[in-house]
Amino acid sequence: KIVPVIMAGGKGTRLWPLSRAAAPKQFIRFIGDTTLFQETLLRVSDKALYEPAIVITNEEFRFLVAEQARELNIALSSILLEPMARNTAAAVAAAGALVRDRFGDGTIMHVLASDHEIDADQVYFDAVRTAIAAASAGKLVTFGIKPTEPATGYGYIEGGEALPSGALAVKRFIEKPPLAKAEEMLASGGFYWNSGMFMFPVAKLLSEMTTFAPAVLKAAGEAVAQGVKDLDFIRLDKAAFGESPDISIDYAVMEKTKNAAVVPSPFQWSDLGSWDSIWKSGSRDEQGNVAAENTTVVNTRNSLVMTHGVHLAVNGMDDIAVIASEDAVYVGHLKDSQDVGAIVKMLASKP
Ligand code: GDD
Ligand code: MG
Repeated sequence: KIVPVIMAGGKGTRLWPLSRAAAPKQFIRFIGDTTLFQETLLRVSDKALYEPAIVITNEEFRFLVAEQARELNIALSSILLEPMARNTAAAVAAAGALVRDRFGDGTIMHVLASDHEIDADQVYFDAVRTAIAAASAGKLVTFGIKPTEPATGYGYIEGGEALPSGALAVKRFIEKPPLAKAEEMLASGGFYWNSGMFMFPVAKLLSEMTTFAPAVLKAAGEAVAQGVKDLDFIRLDKAAFGESPDISIDYAVMEKTKNAAVVPSPFQWSDLGSWDSIWKSGSRDEQGNVAAENTTVVNTRNSLVMTHGVHLAVNGMDDIAVIASEDAVYVGHLKDSQDVGAIVKMLASKP
């Protein structure tokens, strides 16, 4: 069976003020009853296909993870706790070391981000099955989404020759290109966005990390070996984990490996990373507005209005985001949504 590994330690600063340091976006109910983390758990809950999931997250979010799993009545295999954030390469390496110890060298792990909205339909599970076949043949597998705009926040994958599994060999993987490069790749065709989900044969993942990210692997491996078990939690050793470079799995391994494959994936996928993407994937009314409960919106078009606090009334504004939490309000053009992360950095540096 496949071992699911859910990465849930990101900060999600571009969705401020709803996404906060104490409760980042994957744990928030934006629209509807379930959080993105819970939806991710549900996608790997088929017991015929998957072992119970391993969640890797920051120490601070341990109760959010445990509670939200309990709400769904889903038992987790374990929750790996990072004493500090060292990015996704270290998270994947730690999970990989644990999976190898527990399930053996031949295991395949499905690594999932917890900040995506995906329709888990037939098309999705077909892609998952193709990915499993490619991973069984020793490939580090990505899921490729057809790009629709020259977004700079994603990894780009150039597909090559078809493999027996039905996946394509990866010619190039380019993480977060500058705009001009993204435009060029979009125009040339043959490129996919990296969905941020992976299917990894554990032995191959760890051997590629030995080659391309030895310091990450050493730190994460030692942090697991010296980790302390506490009920369902495993606390990674702080001194060891702190030695890991801060780098994402995309830069550390996926850009460098010669053994990657991509599964062209036509399922519904959306990275809910910024307010404009929440607006795009939300259900819009005739005026093009996504207006959540507790808001009044008049004479306004193509805007996003959400509140977790005070009542919001918006009059005569187009193309904007107005977002209120209990203690902060953000107002900005939807097109400037990528700047919110930088604004949060400014806030954090204020005394
Ligand atoms: N445990 C843990 N520790 N999880 C983390 C950490 C960490 O230090 N940092 C991020 N994560 C989690 C996030 O919560 C998210 O679920 C996932 O890992 C991906 O991290 P992001 O920070 O959201 O990455 P990204 O969106 O900039 O880029 C990735 O996803 C894109 C698609 O959404 C890359 O894989 C891109 O190539 C990809 O296109
Ligand atoms: Mg993301």
